Amino acid sequence: MSTENNLLSKKGFTSNLGAIMAAAGGSIGLGNIWRFPYTVGANGGGAFIIVYLIFVVLLGVPLVMSELMLGRRSGKNAVGTFRALAPKHRSWQLVGLIGILAAFLIYSFYSVVFGWTLNFTGQAFTGSILNQDEAQIFAFFAHPYFPLIGLAVALSLTAAVVVAGVQKGIEKCTKILMPVLFVIILLLCLRAVTLPDASKGLSFIFKPDFSKLTSKAILNALGQSMFSLSIGMCALITYGSYIRKEDNLFASSLWIAGADTAIAILAGIAIFPAVFSFGFSPAEGPSLVYVVLPKVFNSMPFGHFFSILFFLLLSIAALTSTILLLEILVMWAVEELKMKRWVATIAVSTVIFIIGALCSLSFGPLKEYTIFGDTLFDFFDKLTATYMMPFGALCISLFIGWYYPKNEIIDEFSNKGTIKTGYLKIFYFLMRYIVPVALLIVLLTGILGL
Ligand code: PHE
Repeated sequence: MSTENNLLSKKGFTSNLGAIMAAAGGSIGLGNIWRFPYTVGANGGGAFIIVYLIFVVLLGVPLVMSELMLGRRSGKNAVGTFRALAPKHRSWQLVGLIGILAAFLIYSFYSVVFGWTLNFTGQAFTGSILNQDEAQIFAFFAHPYFPLIGLAVALSLTAAVVVAGVQKGIEKCTKILMPVLFVIILLLCLRAVTLPDASKGLSFIFKPDFSKLTSKAILNALGQSMFSLSIGMCALITYGSYIRKEDNLFASSLWIAGADTAIAILAGIAIFPAVFSFGFSPAEGPSLVYVVLPKVFNSMPFGHFFSILFFLLLSIAALTSTILLLEILVMWAVEELKMKRWVATIAVSTVIFIIGALCSLSFGPLKEYTIFGDTLFDFFDKLTATYMMPFGALCISLFIGWYYPKNEIIDEFSNKGTIKTGYLKIFYFLMRYIVPVALLIVLLTGILGL
């Protein structure tokens, strides 16, 4: 069969653990440690987290499973997957193309934030971060070229890993970085919960106040769960195509979604008690970890040490996600545009540098240029997480639930009938009814502002 030939000729992950680490690394990112806390902060805390968790269980897990399955079934990139699995209906390829476009837009603004993070990490090492005031930090974001240096470094680091390939680059790197990330976040949580008045921050996360839950907040929770799990834009189709035929896709999906959710909650535990303990506001928005946290570290015993740990954590999380973002685009360029891997890596990184620079400048010189009232950076963020990813997820759920033959799905999840798939009934029910209906309701109510 052609798909099997394709798989044999392609170098995928060498082990199940390697695949899980890479995919968990791709999911765990700035979305968990930077975006999750400020989104929780801006949407009222505990109640938002409960809605978020419901989305992860009902929509997130089956979508992670679906994408990994589609990728492994075809052995191809996002667009090629739909061409291979729906040869008679070519328009399904559009779902893959939207995914590629989303990866492109996300990588553009995400690498800017990664660049800031690298800069802050350097400043954490020298200690200068502790004494900066808010005006200095905002002046840095708005600076016409300082952030571009960080952006260039961020893109180069990512390119260096991706150009080395799936096994020697991506798998090797994520297998080292993910355990480090886990240890650092645990240390930070320990520090946070032992601060005076830590309970205020903890009750902000764990005591739900449903009166603060608006339809916008529900839409934001959906967007956040999609963004954090990297679903709805065929990202996991890309990594799925590298997963070995003998691995258990269901178990891998649970590990990936579980690890991603655990790290988001741990990030909340590491951040909110510290923010509340020193009397700052949790509703600061995107600058929460960059503006508020340095002040928090400055007031905290051993703050310098913990500021280094925190920004290292953020850099690691960002890198393992930019690796996935770049791989989506490189794999597509290699397979669809027939480029060499290194050419594709350089070409994509260069284009992203240009668009990323525009996103970066939208904090300074290009601040006045808005699209539907948002700066370019905010527009890309909102467009992808809140609209493109849920829409892509809707298409994927229709593909799995209503289009792609059920026996093919069973065949892939059961590894050709060799492993048990009792959970498949629930999976299929969720993908056929719950996921599309929930996505439609949330998207429509959110868009219409009901
Ligand atoms: N999930 C990543 C994060 O939480 C972001 C991401 C989205 C990465 C989509 C790849 C694809 O930071």
